[in-house]
Amino acid sequence: MSDFIAQLNDVGHQYEEGPEIFKKVTFDIESGSFYFLTGPSGAGKSSLLKMLYLGLKPTWGSLRLFGEDPLKMKPSSLPFLRQKLGVVFQEFKLLDYLKVIDNVSLPLRVRGIEARQARKHAEELLNWVGLSDALNVYPSILSGGQKQRVAIARAIVTRPQLLLADEPTGNVDDEIALKLLHLFEELNKMGTTVIIATHNQNLLEKSPNPLLIIKEGTIIKTSPQRKSS
Ligand SMILES: Nc1ncnc2c1ncn2[C@@H]1O[C@H](COP(=O)(O)OP(=O)(O)O)[C@@H](O)[C@H]1O
Ligand SMILES: [Mg+2]
Repeated sequence: MSDFIAQLNDVGHQYEEGPEIFKKVTFDIESGSFYFLTGPSGAGKSSLLKMLYLGLKPTWGSLRLFGEDPLKMKPSSLPFLRQKLGVVFQEFKLLDYLKVIDNVSLPLRVRGIEARQARKHAEELLNWVGLSDALNVYPSILSGGQKQRVAIARAIVTRPQLLLADEPTGNVDDEIALKLLHLFEELNKMGTTVIIATHNQNLLEKSPNPLLIIKEGTIIKTSPQRKSS
């Protein structure tokens, strides 16, 4: 496998009915790293994550994911690339007609994991994020913070190679935010590469992880710390 999870080369993006948000963005994401993506509101954090989960095509430049160029791949191979990703959307995107436990089990079920096993994994993660009382309710009755934690559990239940999380602590208090940060760090130790978009200063200060800073249409990357293990 490539040593880089993602490689952007001179990437730019201009929304059709909107601003040019990136000009010439070039950086690599090393396998096993953990980055925070920061920058003011409207800078392009969500758009960058969207490019990384193949929801938005670069207007210019090239993007490689797991060593492959998604624009040159057969469309039928894209789902396999996409399956290596876990995504926590800013707006959660939970399925309202499925119970919480089934929302979190679903990614395992579509990968062919047997129902009881999938449910067991989902339950463990939901316990971990403090939602053991909410397994059998429908998402619509949950608070924003609870929905966010369901979305996180769903994104990580498959142990993705790359986790992309958009403001994953935007709706929870500081104590839960730090607990979630710890969860992301545990996942990272097990091998998942993590990119978290956030402007939560408390989180940024509490963590030694390197940054991707969006500034005036470009991205400045700080060096990853060498991990001692
Ligand atoms: N679908 C879209 N069409 C047109 N403009 C968009 C679209 N999505 C985002 N934008 C614009 O792109 C810029 C970056 O947005 P976004 O990526 O959401 O930033 P952030 O997540 O950092 O707040 C903003 O000016 C936003 O209004
Ligand atoms: Mg955003």
